[in-house]
Amino acid sequence: MPVRLREFRLEDLPEVMRIELSSFPSDAFDELTFVQLYESCGDLFLVAEHEGRIVGYSVTCVEWEGGELVGHVHSIAVDPAFRRQGVGRALMEETFRRLRSLGVGEVRLEVSVSNAAGLRFWQSLGFKPVGVRKRYYADGSDALVMRRELP
Ligand SMILES: CC(C)(COP(=O)(O)OP(=O)(O)OC[C@H]1O[C@@H](n2cnc3c(N)ncnc32)[C@H](O)[C@@H]1OP(=O)(O)O)[C@@H](O)C(=O)NCCC(=O)NCCS
Repeated sequence: MPVRLREFRLEDLPEVMRIELSSFPSDAFDELTFVQLYESCGDLFLVAEHEGRIVGYSVTCVEWEGGELVGHVHSIAVDPAFRRQGVGRALMEETFRRLRSLGVGEVRLEVSVSNAAGLRFWQSLGFKPVGVRKRYYADGSDALVMRRELP
């Protein structure tokens, strides 16, 4: 499905919240969290538009970890009506392109061990599990920490 990728703007917040609430029923980020991510992650907060409508977003920040610059994917969600059409992959491929141009060589993220679709999605993008964070989510589920290198 053709999508246009662009940077998040504050007026996108209601559409991003709509997608967020339909994607993470028990653990959605609130508006303030998105505004803080917008302020700290800059042009790595992306939205995907299809026919003028926002159908997905992803937000990644560059952080220092162990003396290295690491991309940390804070969240990604695609409108349930537009899943399995390459929107999530397109958002992440643009994110990887931007991270490479910043000299970032590694990406990390947390995903719930009970999120089968999310796990398959990250595996399909080359992420491998590197650890577990116990009771990381509001529903008490553990997070798998996953990483991949950006050659
Ligand atoms: C995870 C999510 C972002 C994927 O977005 P998407 O646009 O549907 O993903 P894509 O269409 O780009 O999928 C790319 C590949 O990931 C894998 N994949 C994605 N969803 C999958 C699913 N439900 N089951 C199995 N594999 C899946 C497939 O290999 C897919 O390629 P294919 O369709 O050619 O087989 C979406 O399911 C979502 O918003 N989920 C709710 C929020 C969430 O869990 N976010 C991740 C939390 S870390």
